Amino acid sequence: MALHWDETLLLGNSDIDGQHREIFVHFEQLSQACQSGQGEAALKGLLKYLGDYVDLHFSQEEALMALHSYPGLLQQQEQHASFRQKVMELQERDLANSDAHQLSIIINRRLILWFIQHIRHLDQAMVTYIRAK
Ligand SMILES: [Fe+2]
Ligand SMILES: [Fe+2]
Repeated sequence: MALHWDETLLLGNSDIDGQHREIFVHFEQLSQACQSGQGEAALKGLLKYLGDYVDLHFSQEEALMALHSYPGLLQQQEQHASFRQKVMELQERDLANSDAHQLSIIINRRLILWFIQHIRHLDQAMVTYIRAK
Protein backbone atom coordinates (compact mmCIF):
# COMPACT_ATOMS: atom_id res chain seq x y z
CA MET A 1 0.00 0.00 0.00
CA ALA A 2 1.29 3.44 -0.95
CA LEU A 3 2.29 5.51 2.05
CA HIS A 4 1.54 8.88 0.54
CA TRP A 5 -1.61 10.92 0.01
CA ASP A 6 -3.58 10.29 -3.16
CA GLU A 7 -7.10 10.99 -4.36
CA THR A 8 -8.45 7.68 -3.15
CA LEU A 9 -8.23 9.22 0.34
CA LEU A 10 -10.71 11.99 -0.51
CA LEU A 11 -13.86 11.62 1.59
CA GLY A 12 -16.04 14.43 0.24
CA ASN A 13 -15.70 16.98 3.04
CA SER A 14 -13.35 19.71 1.86
CA ASP A 15 -12.23 20.84 5.35
CA ILE A 16 -11.40 17.33 6.49
CA ASP A 17 -9.86 16.36 3.15
CA GLY A 18 -7.65 19.47 3.20
CA GLN A 19 -6.48 18.69 6.72
CA HIS A 20 -5.73 15.06 5.84
CA ARG A 21 -3.68 16.22 2.90
CA GLU A 22 -1.75 18.64 5.12
CA ILE A 23 -1.05 15.84 7.62
CA PHE A 24 0.57 13.86 4.79
CA VAL A 25 2.79 16.85 4.01
CA HIS A 26 3.93 16.65 7.65
CA PHE A 27 4.47 12.88 7.35
CA GLU A 28 6.54 13.41 4.21
CA GLN A 29 8.75 15.98 5.92
CA LEU A 30 9.24 13.68 8.88
CA SER A 31 10.08 10.68 6.69
CA GLN A 32 12.55 12.67 4.63
CA ALA A 33 14.23 14.12 7.72
CA CYS A 34 14.57 10.64 9.09
CA GLN A 35 15.93 9.11 5.88
CA SER A 36 18.43 11.90 5.38
CA GLY A 37 19.72 11.33 8.90
CA GLN A 38 18.76 14.71 10.34
CA GLY A 39 19.50 15.24 13.99
CA GLU A 40 17.34 14.75 17.03
CA ALA A 41 16.39 18.44 17.30
CA ALA A 42 15.05 18.49 13.73
CA LEU A 43 13.08 15.27 14.23
CA LYS A 44 11.63 16.42 17.56
CA GLY A 45 10.64 19.74 15.98
CA LEU A 46 8.85 17.95 13.13
CA LEU A 47 7.13 15.55 15.54
CA LYS A 48 5.87 18.48 17.59
CA TYR A 49 4.68 20.23 14.44
CA LEU A 50 2.88 17.04 13.34
CA GLY A 51 1.42 16.44 16.82
CA ASP A 52 0.06 19.98 17.11
CA TYR A 53 -1.54 19.87 13.66
CA VAL A 54 -3.05 16.43 14.26
CA ASP A 55 -4.47 17.65 17.61
CA LEU A 56 -6.19 20.49 15.80
CA HIS A 57 -7.56 18.12 13.16
CA PHE A 58 -8.84 15.60 15.71
CA SER A 59 -10.58 18.28 17.78
CA GLN A 60 -12.28 19.66 14.68
CA GLU A 61 -13.49 16.20 13.66
CA GLU A 62 -14.72 15.50 17.19
CA ALA A 63 -16.59 18.83 17.33
CA LEU A 64 -18.23 18.05 13.97
CA MET A 65 -19.27 14.58 15.15
CA ALA A 66 -20.69 16.01 18.39
CA LEU A 67 -22.63 18.59 16.38
CA HIS A 68 -24.24 15.82 14.32
CA SER A 69 -24.71 13.44 17.30
CA TYR A 70 -22.63 10.91 15.39
CA PRO A 71 -22.93 7.47 17.04
CA GLY A 72 -19.28 6.57 16.28
CA LEU A 73 -17.84 9.53 18.22
CA LEU A 74 -16.51 7.47 21.12
CA GLN A 75 -14.68 5.02 18.83
CA GLN A 76 -13.14 7.93 16.95
CA GLN A 77 -12.06 9.58 20.22
CA GLU A 78 -10.41 6.33 21.33
CA GLN A 79 -8.52 5.97 18.06
CA HIS A 80 -7.49 9.62 18.09
CA ALA A 81 -6.16 9.23 21.64
CA SER A 82 -4.22 6.15 20.58
CA PHE A 83 -2.60 8.04 17.69
CA ARG A 84 -1.67 10.93 19.99
CA GLN A 85 -0.06 8.35 22.27
CA LYS A 86 2.03 6.97 19.38
CA VAL A 87 3.30 10.46 18.52
CA MET A 88 4.10 11.10 22.20
CA GLU A 89 6.02 7.82 22.46
CA LEU A 90 8.14 8.84 19.49
CA GLN A 91 8.72 12.30 20.99
CA GLU A 92 9.95 10.70 24.19
CA ARG A 93 12.25 8.27 22.41
CA ASP A 94 16.00 8.74 22.47
CA LEU A 95 16.08 9.85 18.84
CA ALA A 96 19.76 10.73 18.95
CA ASN A 97 20.63 7.07 19.52
CA SER A 98 17.91 5.53 17.38
CA ASP A 99 18.70 3.71 14.19
CA ALA A 100 17.37 5.82 11.26
CA HIS A 101 16.14 2.78 9.34
CA GLN A 102 14.29 1.43 12.36
CA LEU A 103 12.79 4.87 12.96
CA SER A 104 11.57 5.04 9.33
CA ILE A 105 9.81 1.73 9.75
CA ILE A 106 8.11 2.94 12.93
CA ILE A 107 7.00 6.17 11.25
CA ASN A 108 5.68 4.27 8.22
CA ARG A 109 3.88 1.56 10.13
CA ARG A 110 2.75 3.18 13.34
CA LEU A 111 1.91 6.61 12.02
CA ILE A 112 1.34 6.71 8.27
CA LEU A 113 -0.24 3.29 7.71
CA TRP A 114 -2.36 3.76 10.82
CA PHE A 115 -3.58 7.09 9.49
CA ILE A 116 -4.44 5.73 6.05
CA GLN A 117 -6.49 2.95 7.63
CA HIS A 118 -8.20 5.39 9.98
CA ILE A 119 -9.18 7.65 7.04
CA ARG A 120 -10.41 4.75 4.92
CA HIS A 121 -12.57 3.25 7.63
CA LEU A 122 -13.61 5.49 10.53
CA ASP A 123 -13.32 8.88 8.85
CA GLN A 124 -15.05 7.61 5.71
CA ALA A 125 -17.96 6.28 7.80
CA MET A 126 -18.19 9.61 9.66
CA VAL A 127 -18.26 11.73 6.48
CA THR A 128 -20.78 9.40 4.81
CA TYR A 129 -23.07 9.64 7.87
CA ILE A 130 -22.87 13.44 8.07
CA ARG A 131 -23.42 13.90 4.34
CA ALA A 132 -26.48 11.65 4.40
CA LYS A 133 -28.16 13.72 7.13
FE1 LIG B 1 -9.25 12.49 10.11
FE1 LIG C 1 -10.66 10.66 12.70
